[in-house]
Amino acid sequence: MQIVIIGAGVIGLATAWRTAAGGAAVTLVDPAPASGASSVAAGMLTPVSELTYGEEPLLRLGLASRDRYGAFVAELEELTGLETGYRTDGIIEVAFDSDDLRHLDDLRRFQEDLGIPAEALTGRECRRLEPMLAPGVRGGLLAPEDGSVDPRRLTPALLAACDRLGVRLVRRRAERVVVEDDAAAGVGLDDGTVIRADRVLLAAGPWSGDIGGLPPGTVPPVRPVKGQVIRLRTRAPFLRRSTRGLVRGSSVYLVPRADGEIVLGATQEELGFDTRVTAGGLWELLRDARELLPGITELEFAEVTAGLRPGSPDNAPVMGPTALPGLLVGTGHFRNGILLTPVSADILSAMLLDGPVPEVAGPFAPDRFSPEVSA
Ligand code: GLY
Repeated sequence: MQIVIIGAGVIGLATAWRTAAGGAAVTLVDPAPASGASSVAAGMLTPVSELTYGEEPLLRLGLASRDRYGAFVAELEELTGLETGYRTDGIIEVAFDSDDLRHLDDLRRFQEDLGIPAEALTGRECRRLEPMLAPGVRGGLLAPEDGSVDPRRLTPALLAACDRLGVRLVRRRAERVVVEDDAAAGVGLDDGTVIRADRVLLAAGPWSGDIGGLPPGTVPPVRPVKGQVIRLRTRAPFLRRSTRGLVRGSSVYLVPRADGEIVLGATQEELGFDTRVTAGGLWELLRDARELLPGITELEFAEVTAGLRPGSPDNAPVMGPTALPGLLVGTGHFRNGILLTPVSADILSAMLLDGPVPEVAGPFAPDRFSPEVSA
């Protein structure tokens, strides 16, 4: 079985690894592997914090992925000898004022209704867990089973795993899907060459809709949602675990790494394919982070970046076969790409290899956006 995967972000890379491990010959096409949102993301592994009400299927997918993470990174680290910065020290969510605290209380009740443990904390308890938090922090929640991974370590490990399993990496832009006899038969590249395939997986994030050669409506609409992120550095201990905060209704998070890096994110902006870093975006992040952690202004500045999250019309992933036989999509992971990597790789590789597909994939089929299904 010859498989071509378009897009070497975390989803494309992890799926390539798993599909090659399942016995297929895999070619991965991307002009700049792991350079999009995967290189900007902070890597929080929290199935709950990024959710809004009514997203229970996404919650179940997130929990299934978080449950897979330990084994996924253990296998990856063992195979490649590379570390991924995986941590399971929990995530604390804190509230700046009483309205923010009410919102967190609602979130806790929502979690409890769904059977997910979340420990309510007073302001003092928050500061006992994270001593750098401001004295005014009103209270919070601890999600003890959440954690983080470093996407900038995860993607090199995934690239190395792909290499070990013989995945061919083609550093070119895929221009079109080759269609023969009303089925996908390969991928045409920007240098005019064609790679033939039995199946093609389109995992090009927000660029997934740009591929040529397809009948209209084959790929569900995916839009770019910009996120600006700041990287800071500290030599002294600053945060023990990932910390999210609500500050006058706006959300901010800080993810610490063992080497002293602290990732502060992220804006959420609907501006098309715009990756400019703006003064206003950075100001908002620093303003809110300083309310929660006044000591942040002492930290060394390291980097600012902006990435584009792929958002589908319902902000949930789109994974599965399209109306064109032989063409599958794996995109739309929006704010949850790093969290959802292990389960998405299991789902997409099973679909590519005709294996048993995990049940949690059910609600994320691409045809939910086709007129007959949504009517
Ligand atoms: N999951 C974090 C973000 O999208 O900003």
